[in-house]
Amino acid sequence: SPAAPCTVVVFGGTGDLAVRKLLPALYLRDHDGQLPPGSRIVGAARAGLDTDGYRDKVRGELARFVPAHLLDAGTLTRFLDRLDYVSVDFAGGDDWSALRDVLAPDSVRVFYLACAPSLFGPISHHLARHGLVEPTSRVVLEKPIGRDLASARAINDAVGEVFDESQIFRIDHYLGKESVQNLLVTRFANTLLEPLWNSTWIDHVQITVSESLGVGTRGGYYDTSGALRDMLQNHLLQVLCLVAMEPPTVVDRETVRDEKLKVLQALRPMTPDDVERFTVTGQYGPGLVDGGAVPGYRDEVENPDSRTETFVAVRAEVRNWRWAGVPFYLRTGKRLEKRSSEIVVQFKDVPHPMFPRAEGATEPNRLVIRLQPDEGICLHMTAKEPGPGGIRLRPVSLDLNYVDAFDRPSPDAYERLLMDVVRGDPTLFMRRDEVETAWAWVEPILQTWDRTGRVPRRYPAGTSGPTDAITLIERDGRAWYEGPSS
Ligand code: BG6
Repeated sequence: SPAAPCTVVVFGGTGDLAVRKLLPALYLRDHDGQLPPGSRIVGAARAGLDTDGYRDKVRGELARFVPAHLLDAGTLTRFLDRLDYVSVDFAGGDDWSALRDVLAPDSVRVFYLACAPSLFGPISHHLARHGLVEPTSRVVLEKPIGRDLASARAINDAVGEVFDESQIFRIDHYLGKESVQNLLVTRFANTLLEPLWNSTWIDHVQITVSESLGVGTRGGYYDTSGALRDMLQNHLLQVLCLVAMEPPTVVDRETVRDEKLKVLQALRPMTPDDVERFTVTGQYGPGLVDGGAVPGYRDEVENPDSRTETFVAVRAEVRNWRWAGVPFYLRTGKRLEKRSSEIVVQFKDVPHPMFPRAEGATEPNRLVIRLQPDEGICLHMTAKEPGPGGIRLRPVSLDLNYVDAFDRPSPDAYERLLMDVVRGDPTLFMRRDEVETAWAWVEPILQTWDRTGRVPRRYPAGTSGPTDAITLIERDGRAWYEGPSS
């Protein structure tokens, strides 16, 4: 049966996330005919607009964020006609009747809270008080859910007073990335890898999310957050879960999340000593990115004393049978030399070097899963270089690029996830226990940094981050994998 029409109410409807990601994603799904007929979109904000003004604004923003060839007049008109605007004071009790007036009685209500997490509780409360929440309604919470375990719990409690857990969709857009979902398929729809996917064969795992952008206009939020809260607590730990989890019996809403939760619960808690040894923080100074001079972080956020980390690296361990003794090295940062996110699974060396007179050395096998920008999988092996002389060992790779293989670019993560909300499928969203367990693991790190007054190392914008991050892994006799040596 066709999906019921929905009304998506975006709290923060004029904000950065809404205009850059949510509205373009909804537009593109509409373009492909996937929004149920009769669906509406409501921008809720305090921007002093009316519906016409909002439609004009959204038309302008779509022109910036949707590829021109997908902006056809027919879809654009249909999409803009779906839009309403209401002015609501999220924290105050007024104006909510204006929202009621634009909610059609027979459509599924999706309340998307693209605003500060401190407002999640108050908004839920006002929605309930004005009788706007129905059993079929859903609420989407953007990350971060809180800034530590206590605030995450408080938010989850407040939202949970109004919405049942099955109505709550906590978004982590990394789970909507094609390449991240493909991780499950790569591991569990192929027989080849799973027998090797354990401490007997794997030496260690690296997860890198490197961004070349700085904080841009989000300095106000970011300066109170930092890379650990903004990226590692959620995106990197979710990726780690998908790499490390046991095979779920089926892929459905609870089973996958149960398995991810077990990984989070198995993360070795960090003592203050561990925090000193196994975490590295950095903050970018001025530098060169793509040939252009860029300012340092403190100038960008206009806080000359800021101690907020824009880079973090952590050595983590998953304490279970499969992963005993296999370190997971995680790192992420802004204003690094390139935008590139990947998982490197490094296998153990061959047990015996049997080419004594060979030129070159065997390199450990590595499976590199590229999340972005060029999604793909690459298996690095050692081969004999052709030639009549002696044996020369050379690294080679089996490289699969998804765009080439499927001849189709991947949709944006938000397109997939918004449609999952519309269809009511929470499999790729974080459950309350996952979010809180992730905070519980991160919290001792935050506390130790606070207590010891840790100042992040400066690194010039456009580099690979602070050298301490190199030391973190080299101390273990390993190295960050930066691509094939040529
Ligand atoms: C967001 C963070 O969740 O993810 C941003 O708040 C970050 O700071 C962004 O830039 C990265 O997402 P992507 O999809 O560009 O890798």
